[in-house]
Amino acid sequence: MYVLGIESSCDETAAAVIGPGHKLLANVVASQFDTHQRYGGVVPELASREHLRAIVPVVRQALEQAAITYKDLNAIAVTEGPGLVGSLLVGLTFAKGLAVSLRIPFLGINHIEGHIHAVVLEQQSKNRQIKFPALALVVSGGHSHLFFVEQSPDFEYRYRLLGRTRDDAAGEAFDKVAKLLGLGYPGGPLIDQLAPHGDPRAVSLPNVRMKGNQLDLSYSGLKTAVLRHVQQANMDDEIRTRRRMFLKKPRPTTDEILLVSSKGTLDLIASFQQTAIEELVRRVARAMEQEPAKAVIVSGGVAANSGLRRQFESLPYPVYFPSLKLSTDNAAMIAAAAYPRLERREQSDMSLTAKPGLALSSLE
Ligand code: KG4
Ligand code: ZN
Repeated sequence: MYVLGIESSCDETAAAVIGPGHKLLANVVASQFDTHQRYGGVVPELASREHLRAIVPVVRQALEQAAITYKDLNAIAVTEGPGLVGSLLVGLTFAKGLAVSLRIPFLGINHIEGHIHAVVLEQQSKNRQIKFPALALVVSGGHSHLFFVEQSPDFEYRYRLLGRTRDDAAGEAFDKVAKLLGLGYPGGPLIDQLAPHGDPRAVSLPNVRMKGNQLDLSYSGLKTAVLRHVQQANMDDEIRTRRRMFLKKPRPTTDEILLVSSKGTLDLIASFQQTAIEELVRRVARAMEQEPAKAVIVSGGVAANSGLRRQFESLPYPVYFPSLKLSTDNAAMIAAAAYPRLERREQSDMSLTAKPGLALSSLE
């Protein structure tokens, strides 16, 4: 079975093909970095327009990479939510139209489930099986969710939400702190790049105490603490210099950023990253005590963070990450989540609409 995956929930237009034996044959991602970076974040109207422009060439490129044609496709999988409504609609409408014209089934997929299946797909391709039940932490620009995941013998997956952020998603916190410090967008990779140059214990930042569900998370206190530190440490000139540098050159090298960053700033960046990640590791460690899980899956854009990988790898149970390429948004993960369902002949009908706030939970 050849499955075309399409993903357009935010600011990447992506298409991928998974073929017989769950093999990833093509994975194409068109980034909208150049469109949005000057605004310091994703502009929804521009994102939809860029998806419209990119969707046909991206799908064509994926088919070429997989060395197949439209006629070889057996099914189409597409993100139905959560995400930006205008962006989702572009992928969904395209997928429906293509499915009708090729007379093949299509299936709407939850983007968060997709992030989890990026990891399942890659472990399968290495002939390794993740031990289920497992915990899955999805940390990206839009979500910070912790799930308990069960797998049935015929590869049906069921999810129970254990905890989630009450305010910012982890990636959003990285992006906002980076913006505050005069760094470009998205800020997560920049913070990751700079953190090893600072001392993570230099600035004392608060850990969160949650009322109610101890597996929930909050980043607003940490963000405010960073802001207060910036105000007290008189970092304004330095921040303005960096902002000017990013305006002139959106992708400076690490050395160029280091030249305009004081030890105080680098220490703050390292301390922020350390604290933000500790929050995630603590939640997962606590959930492992409460639930009969055998392994941990960590996925989503923030799972690309090298500090995060190091801290999670020191936990005393198997922890699985996606490759860097499949950590951030892509369509391989959408095709991967759909594949076992399509094998069970699941499909969506033409009334399927975009669901910007779609939740993931099938276990009570
Ligand atoms: O999964 P993703 O591509 O899109 C969403 O579903 O949101 O995640 C993007 C987020 C952004 O907030 C970005 O700053 C963050 O992931 N991110 C990182 C890293 N790479 C991407 N955060 C920390 N460290 C990284 N290396
Ligand atoms: Zn995502």
